[in-house]
Amino acid sequence: MNFEGKSIIVTGAASGFGAATAKLFAANGAKVVASDINLIGAENTADIIGKAGGTAIAIQTDVRQSSDMENMVKLAVSEFGGLNIMVNNAGLGHKSALMHEMSEEDYDLVFNTNTKSVFWSVKYAVPEFIKAGNGVMVNVASIGAKRPRPLGVAYNASKGAVATMTRALASELARYKIRVNAVCPLASETGFFKTTGLDTLPDALREKMIKEVPLRRLTDPIDVANSIAFLASDQASFLTGILLDVDGGKGI
Ligand code: NAI
Repeated sequence: MNFEGKSIIVTGAASGFGAATAKLFAANGAKVVASDINLIGAENTADIIGKAGGTAIAIQTDVRQSSDMENMVKLAVSEFGGLNIMVNNAGLGHKSALMHEMSEEDYDLVFNTNTKSVFWSVKYAVPEFIKAGNGVMVNVASIGAKRPRPLGVAYNASKGAVATMTRALASELARYKIRVNAVCPLASETGFFKTTGLDTLPDALREKMIKEVPLRRLTDPIDVANSIAFLASDQASFLTGILLDVDGGKGI
């Protein structure tokens, strides 16, 4: 896959899937805006890319905030001459909880981070795609959007919204030659495990999780990065509205 000369934004690029995605695109020629609420982490990703010979700039962005998202898109345009690919990856889960025992604060945090971010991204990135005459958006949903489990209802529902927005936007934006797809990853031991408390799972439960996956492992961030890159590539030029499971066969 060749992204030579393409301008791309990756949100949540400080860590996990976002960091792997930013690095992969840069290694294949893209000019990357590494955006995250964690500026030091985003700068670290951009530094690694720069040291490897790639092009990246970091920006602090809270994906819940309109002005931050607008500035992030403006930076891509001013530094790289436009925007070709938008990866909406920043997101978080909540501690395992029955929904009726969950706080409103946690509910709002999860929904604003995981879904309002896509709204702002559409508002600011899509006009740039329209100017360019094409564009690609890839959203990071979750296998939980399709196979929800107890104790993560709000998280799963927020990712369900991301999945539905992906398909609806694919249909709405095809008239502008804009493609919109999503990946639906299985669990991965990134920073996400800390926000959800999965990092303290007893070994026996972790082993059980792995045994339930036909390919017998959890998701590696590079699995997600590779899938995002494929969906964003010219090789996927006829694919839109796809919700691609990255789950080792768990959803079969
Ligand atoms: P991570 O915690 O390693 O990375 C998420 C990044 O998002 C962090 O760098 C964090 O600072 C950033 N972030 C959080 N809130 C933000 C905000 N308001 N504005 C900007 N940046 C913000 O976790 P991971 O796993 O890399 O998560 C990436 C995406 O993948 C998330 O949308 C997550 O829901 C999704 N996902 C994760 C799975 C997993 O098991 N790790 C499975 C399925 C989906």
